[in-house]
Amino acid sequence: MNYQAILQEAGIPALAQSAGEIQAHTPIDGTVLAQLPAESAAVVEAKIQHSLSAFQIWRSVPAPQRGELLRRFAERVRKDKQSLARLISLEAGKILSEGLGEVQEVIDICDFAVGLSRQLYGLTIASERPGHHLLERWHPLGPVGVITAFNFPMAVWTWNAALALVCGDTVLWKPSEKTMLCALALHRKLEEVIAEFPAAPQAISQLLIGRRPVGEQLADHGAVPLVSATGSTAMGRALGPRVAARFGRTLLELGGNNAAIVGPTADVPLSLRAIVFAAVGTAGQRCTSLRRLFVHRTLVGTLSPMLRKAYASLPVGSPLEAGTLIGPLIDGAAFERMQSVLAAARQAGAKVVGGERVQPPGLAGGFYVRPALVETEKPIPMMSEETFAPILYVVPYDSFEGAIAMQNDVRQGLSSAIFTNDMREAETFLSATGSDCGIANVNTGPSGAEIGGAFGGEKETGGGRESGSDSWKTYMRRQTQTVNYSTQMPLAQGVQFPVD
Ligand code: UN1
Repeated sequence: MNYQAILQEAGIPALAQSAGEIQAHTPIDGTVLAQLPAESAAVVEAKIQHSLSAFQIWRSVPAPQRGELLRRFAERVRKDKQSLARLISLEAGKILSEGLGEVQEVIDICDFAVGLSRQLYGLTIASERPGHHLLERWHPLGPVGVITAFNFPMAVWTWNAALALVCGDTVLWKPSEKTMLCALALHRKLEEVIAEFPAAPQAISQLLIGRRPVGEQLADHGAVPLVSATGSTAMGRALGPRVAARFGRTLLELGGNNAAIVGPTADVPLSLRAIVFAAVGTAGQRCTSLRRLFVHRTLVGTLSPMLRKAYASLPVGSPLEAGTLIGPLIDGAAFERMQSVLAAARQAGAKVVGGERVQPPGLAGGFYVRPALVETEKPIPMMSEETFAPILYVVPYDSFEGAIAMQNDVRQGLSSAIFTNDMREAETFLSATGSDCGIANVNTGPSGAEIGGAFGGEKETGGGRESGSDSWKTYMRRQTQTVNYSTQMPLAQGVQFPVD
């Protein structure tokens, strides 16, 4: 299927003819797919004002009706699942099965949001005063800025947008410059659904195409009470204080440096399957990708050859081709970073297996690699950084406590896993003295989370939680209300203040 046909099918054919300074590429072979203009500061300001006006209306639409809009959007996405998935493969380089999985994640969070639209529960609390009613209610917050990364170009926006819209907020989406077309195609579907939904002003969701200054405008704007951002720790470090300076809120989902422990009782074939998917899926470019593996010394001799064998036979190539498991890295810069980290690892005395460039026929402009295993007796300095590439460090361990200490000894705290059939190890790993991450799994890898749970991590991962559970509360403001339905005027804490 040619690239133009994929754009056509995804509903954005005219873009190929556009002219602007930001180029959309496919990582498959580097072909330029479109060139889009960055929106000016004046246009961004106008869109923020439209978002604010739309919010004045949308916040009063009953939440279950807001949910109905998401139900229709999910229906639309279900219908177009294949074409959206192909666009993800084209622009982000994911293999088709993972593209389909991402679109499914879009659908899943919309379904979740529909249910949520009837469950935005508050509490009633026992009042200490007679004839008083104390309660807690959740109100819409306002326009929410959503900044997303290239690696989940549709799902992560929807995690935020579906909840925000159901909560009565409006949305301003600044997608990664690397995956603008995915954003345009998905957002267009929402725009079409909104156009046929009289209760919703068109500007409840808007797209902002641009580079860093657009993100900065959202960060600094007093009309945007929440900025939710996914990306590098460096990005979060720049963004967080700017939003905080005006007392805005952030929801940050930043770097991960996820580890797994393979205990002496682990089911080795099961662990192998989970480890390989988590380490090389999406070419190692998930926030949740497995980057560090701690293997009990008694299993190293069994697991290491199995890993090497699996890595050597992974099919690398075009993500649009059936059978491929490893697509391209997003660009040449990602390839250079991977190579320099592998060189440093060799320098530090580690054994590097794989990691070399692979050139599938006809795809010379793409950056394909064989995923790398880096075997080292002890942790080496580069293991404390997140390299967005398929590099898996494999380190033996002797004591379980030592393995947990190594797993927690990084600045990031997103996801983690243990492979074990020892109940004591599993429960310790999940306890307060175990993994310090936002996500901790047993006998399944650190990536591929379901939408039902809250997603996010501790430490330099940023502390935000999006997607399921009660993450919706971040998109609303909490109001504590006291109602006096008596004829008396008692004060709390027994304070006497007689006024005639
Ligand atoms: C991300 O990489 O930013 O848990 C999100 C997972 C996916 C989401 C990853 N459901 O791997």
